[in-house]
Amino acid sequence: MPALVLLGAQWGDEGKGKATDLLGGSVDYVVRYQGGNNAGHTVVVGDQKYALHLLPSGILSPGCTPVIGNGVVVDPSVLFSELNGLNDRGVDTSKLLISGNAHIITPYNVTVDKVTERFLGKRKIGTTGRGIGPTYADKINRVGIRIQDLYDESILTQKVEAALDGKNQLLTKVFNRRAIEVGQVVEELLGYADRLKPYVADTVLVLNQALEQDKVVLFEGGQGTLLDIDHGTYPFVTSSNPTAGGACTGAGVGPTKISRVIGILKAYTTRVGSGPFPTELFDEDGEALRRIGGERGVTTGRDRRCGWFDAVIARYATRVNGLTDFFLTKLDVLTGWEQIPVCVAYEIDGERVEELPYSQTDFHHAKPVYEYLPGWSEDITKAKTFADLPKNAQDYVKALEEMSGAPISAIGVGPGRDETIEINSFL
Ligand code: IMP
Repeated sequence: MPALVLLGAQWGDEGKGKATDLLGGSVDYVVRYQGGNNAGHTVVVGDQKYALHLLPSGILSPGCTPVIGNGVVVDPSVLFSELNGLNDRGVDTSKLLISGNAHIITPYNVTVDKVTERFLGKRKIGTTGRGIGPTYADKINRVGIRIQDLYDESILTQKVEAALDGKNQLLTKVFNRRAIEVGQVVEELLGYADRLKPYVADTVLVLNQALEQDKVVLFEGGQGTLLDIDHGTYPFVTSSNPTAGGACTGAGVGPTKISRVIGILKAYTTRVGSGPFPTELFDEDGEALRRIGGERGVTTGRDRRCGWFDAVIARYATRVNGLTDFFLTKLDVLTGWEQIPVCVAYEIDGERVEELPYSQTDFHHAKPVYEYLPGWSEDITKAKTFADLPKNAQDYVKALEEMSGAPISAIGVGPGRDETIEINSFL
């Protein structure tokens, strides 16, 4: 019954796609359990580079069934364009399964996301503008539209009416925008129904039966721990639960079924959008990390904010997710620095603090306390085993492991599929 959760241990973009894809060959199901097309995975297979936003990255592994769970929000137009793009490149996508309970990102959710951000001005969250937050808000407000609603026109119309009732008041009276017509939305949504139909399934049943049959199921988190609506740097977060518990609710699998929780951890730190980031760099080192690491958002094309590794955050990720392992990514990006600062604690209002403060005010005041580890200059991209790494790189990894509270079981030393050092097998 191997059920693995793979999730971002920082603010997302840690390189999950590579990790999922690496496991894909031995995994029977890859499941997304939250988020939507705000995620961005770049997966490199041979000389081909694939950018995925909504589809689980297991879609690139022929033996694997990709699943979009009930906790995901789905924009059908994005789904189809992603499927078309893969089909054009010869990838078979026919095995995809989508939960009938997953919520649909409607065109009005995208509109509300954009106008809300504009309205917030300098207090904006810096969302991806894909309608994620408003779709989850509708879900919680019980006026959401689910995939299964596309197969009952009368129900769909009633639900769209209910959802638009309040929103049109808001759009016209507060945001000064035109009202959205129910009929137009219903027509657009119904237009997706036939093409979606073959993929729609009772994914909760499928996944639980798969686990009973000892199949390997991989739950793939979008975004990252610090973007979690409950455990992240609220309000600068996404509107779902990327943390390990989200895999259970977002896929309908009980916590007793999860055997391993793997945190993807970048060898330094990045973040997109607004919000606190204690180790952020505003100098040439930050510029160099961005350039060498290719730190530009796959989904939004925005430059990522870059900074040194933060062990306080890694420890927090271990705790809140119950991590059993780390997959350390992008170690090669750090090649060439004489010494590498690592944040081991914070100084908050003159006091040294070892753990992530629960208070937002304190976290906004946190200044990094650095330890300086010796760097390396050798090319590490060809390293196949831990012993192939230069001593200082080995020591950097060991130091991170000790500070972060879980074993580092794999290390990414380059973007390619085979540029990974496996220390302990995940299966
Ligand atoms: P939303 O998810 O579009 O609502 O955006 C909320 C916050 O999460 C913003 O700061 C986004 O930049 C951030 N975010 C959303 N998806 C990702 C991701 O895949 N990687 C990194 N940050 C993300």
